[in-house]
Amino acid sequence: MSELLMMHNIRKYFPGVKALRSVSLAIRAGEVHALIGENGAGKSTLMKILSGVYGMDEGEIFWDGQKVEISSTADATELGISIIYQELNQLPNMSVAENIFLGREKRTRNIFLNSRETFSEARKFLDNVGLDVDVRALCKDLSIAQRQMVEIAKALSVNARLIVMDEPTSSLTDREITVLFGLIRRLREQGVAVVFISHKLEEIFQISDRITVLRDGEYIGTVETVDCSEDLLIQMMVGRSLTGFYPKREVPIGDVVLQVEHLNAGRSVRDVSFDVRAGEILGFAGLVGAGRSETMRALFGVDPMESGRIAVNGKTLSHHSPSDAIQCGIGLVPEDRKLQGLILKMTVRENTTLANMEATREKGFVSRRKEEQITREYVRKLDIRTAGTEQKAVNLSGGNQQKVVIAKWLATGSRVLILDSPTRGIDVGAKKEIHELMGELASQGAAIIMVSSELPEILGMCDRIIVMHEGSIRGDLKRSEATQEKIMEIILTSKKQAIPQGE
Ligand SMILES: Nc1ncnc2c1ncn2[C@@H]1O[C@H](COP(=O)(O)OP(=O)(O)OP(=O)(O)O)[C@@H](O)[C@H]1O
Ligand SMILES: [Mg+2]
Repeated sequence: MSELLMMHNIRKYFPGVKALRSVSLAIRAGEVHALIGENGAGKSTLMKILSGVYGMDEGEIFWDGQKVEISSTADATELGISIIYQELNQLPNMSVAENIFLGREKRTRNIFLNSRETFSEARKFLDNVGLDVDVRALCKDLSIAQRQMVEIAKALSVNARLIVMDEPTSSLTDREITVLFGLIRRLREQGVAVVFISHKLEEIFQISDRITVLRDGEYIGTVETVDCSEDLLIQMMVGRSLTGFYPKREVPIGDVVLQVEHLNAGRSVRDVSFDVRAGEILGFAGLVGAGRSETMRALFGVDPMESGRIAVNGKTLSHHSPSDAIQCGIGLVPEDRKLQGLILKMTVRENTTLANMEATREKGFVSRRKEEQITREYVRKLDIRTAGTEQKAVNLSGGNQQKVVIAKWLATGSRVLILDSPTRGIDVGAKKEIHELMGELASQGAAIIMVSSELPEILGMCDRIIVMHEGSIRGDLKRSEATQEKIMEIILTSKKQAIPQGE
């Protein structure tokens, strides 16, 4: 057997969920192996079994041709298997060096006592991944991309021969992704195998050698990347082919619903003014860090605003808090759904109906029956993979948790719906369903704002596009005149004209 890793007929059940039914995976040394499938297909579960977080109900694992038992994360590390989770497992208040050696204090006790050595050891591994930060810097002060690099450095410091990256690119800028891919290629040259999970097919084609597809907890197949097309992968993932991406509906545009005038909030929101009309889908394009999410947070009252006016249907918001915003008919699907959108220990039903007191009432009382009816409707519409409406949100897959947050705001029937990166981490099929629901809401007269870093999505779905850079609006394009090139040009020109810091 030339394979570095063989996972054979792995079976894993959770209460009410057959997460994996007889899944196999073979990884060769020094290959980049993509693992793909719809939300809830079982990708993270399979990798958690490999890294010793979950036990399996049935199946065998072979490493270097030898059968092995992996019953803890320490076992996995010992073999040379490291996993980098989407939610990075770092201690924010510890230094970069301490995080690299975390959990190995025993073996490196001396290093810990002698911090000069800790630092120089850590430096070596950081240089290896090409990360130029101070080893004494605290993890909380690093960007997500830098923290990921620290995790990879950590994996190398324990001589990992297989590194699993679970959706590593979802919060990275294009430039950071290029850097990460460069590093993945270097790892491959050094003979390290990488399992790469992502919902972005362009990335899969760029970086992987082979691809394994899961669907509904089943193994569908493994293909050589050079031999396959996007259509084939979608067919394998979804079980049917998908056509008609970006189903933009033409709906009549009505009166102004949301008015924002001279909004200022911190450094990242400077004198932002715009409005959105009924039936309109307004896109916000720009680089990561352009101030788009901050604008939405200030608008919704999550972040304080320093000055400006926000009005819905001509009525100025008075208190400037999320509850005031909700009262006036504004809904926000935030960028960081784990932190801001979802209550993990509550059920799918509770999360879906949380912001929707009115529709779930009957004669003044909360009606469980109505709550269930609404939840079931959205579980069906968004194809949320859950054991039922009473499943706790914490037990859903990453993408399905996001769908619940989106359901929650779609269900409120907000007059103004703000969607911040609504399809990030969402599989191709569900992405199309979310776009269709946006069109449906717009046709019912909602004013919709969508922030997205995916230009094709913005161009495909929006009636008008605002381009932001360094906290201000730099362009406002109609659907008919907007192109990828025009948007990039506005961003690049703004960059050149950038006012030096401390103006
Ligand atoms: N701890 C748990 N308890 C109960 N069910 C779980 C648990 N962890 C995962 N599941 C279920 O197992 C299935 C597979 O989930 P998994 O997280 O592996 O999906 P995924 O392929 O990683 O999806 P995504 O692309 O959305 O991240 C889902 O139906 C999920 O709800
Ligand atoms: Mg996952």
